[in-house]
Amino acid sequence: MTETPVLRVADITKTYHLNTSVLARITRKDDKQSSLHALDGVDLQLNKGEILALVGESGSGKSTLAKILVGSATPTSGELDYHGEPMPLHRNKDASRRIQMVFQDPYSSLNPRISIGSMLKELLVLHNIVPKSEVRAESIRLLNLVGLEEDALQAYPSQFSGGQRQRIAIARALAVRPDILIADEPVSALDVSVQATILELFATLQRDLGLSILFVAHNLAVVQHLSQRVAVMYLGRIVEVAETEELFRNPRHPYTRALIDSIPRMSAESVNEEFFLDGEPPSPFNIPAGCRFNPRCPYASDACRTTDPALETVAPQHESACIRASELDTLALTIKPRRTGNTAA
Ligand SMILES: Nc1ncnc2c1ncn2[C@@H]1O[C@H](COP(=O)(O)OP(=O)(O)O)[C@@H](O)[C@H]1O
Ligand SMILES: [Mg+2]
Repeated sequence: MTETPVLRVADITKTYHLNTSVLARITRKDDKQSSLHALDGVDLQLNKGEILALVGESGSGKSTLAKILVGSATPTSGELDYHGEPMPLHRNKDASRRIQMVFQDPYSSLNPRISIGSMLKELLVLHNIVPKSEVRAESIRLLNLVGLEEDALQAYPSQFSGGQRQRIAIARALAVRPDILIADEPVSALDVSVQATILELFATLQRDLGLSILFVAHNLAVVQHLSQRVAVMYLGRIVEVAETEELFRNPRHPYTRALIDSIPRMSAESVNEEFFLDGEPPSPFNIPAGCRFNPRCPYASDACRTTDPALETVAPQHESACIRASELDTLALTIKPRRTGNTAA
């Protein structure tokens, strides 16, 4: 029943050493202030044909993980499997073709001096996707796939709106026939009115092309109706992962609860006013001891300040890295949350 995931990462870490002097790095290797732990043991798998949302606050490490998956950054340690086989550190042309990235900002990700037709042609020829005689027809097919017409071939990026540019960026990613798309906040830079049409496009591509998609967002609301599963990231770690409906109905990590409760709702009745997320995320230079979420967690006990919890199964297809996961419902009724400014710790 369990199919091999198309991508799997295990215990991935990424540390940036910010003190650029080589000598300083050698002599002060363990200096906490110069080592930034962007990823601190990430376990995650992307299943065939699914849209998996990766959600977390800004700075939690989402883009770093996205870059490692597409091969534009190398992890400090950890494993990365593609279709069950270890991905070579230096990917060949074919391996890099199969995993494509769509970036947040379609303005800076497209070259303003190259027409859409030339851009697609270059890729189709470079990767030998179709014979030269079919390049034009293939380019039109790609444009149609993303909801654009043939006349876009002659045009330049500046002639399009933000949403259309993101469609072009998606067509470019699809040109080399990937089986995996990594979309790093692809709607965050777009007008709210346009966001829904691009989300719809991702759903269509998943359905019609069978693509496996990792969809990065900082906001859970964006992915609620798009993804089949959600992985929640906090300070360089996945802290909860579940099927989307299950995650919203039965969140088993206090951080996920806070994210859900921060979604604005039409009806005031359904808002759980009990839980507010205090303050800024702590610094990845200095990850808190114990559970990394404990300084902001209204449910933190003494054990949470000393035990660094691993992801554990809490329900079918549902994992949480919280030692109090099973108690959360009762705790919600009995423990008053901390508010900014309170010093309950
Ligand atoms: N090239 C880099 N050099 C140093 N620090 C970086 C670099 N890229 C990202 N970081 C740091 O790593 C952490 C995670 O960043 P990022 O992956 O961009 O998070 P997100 O995409 O979730 O906002 C942040 O603290 C960020 O400042
Ligand atoms: Mg990012």
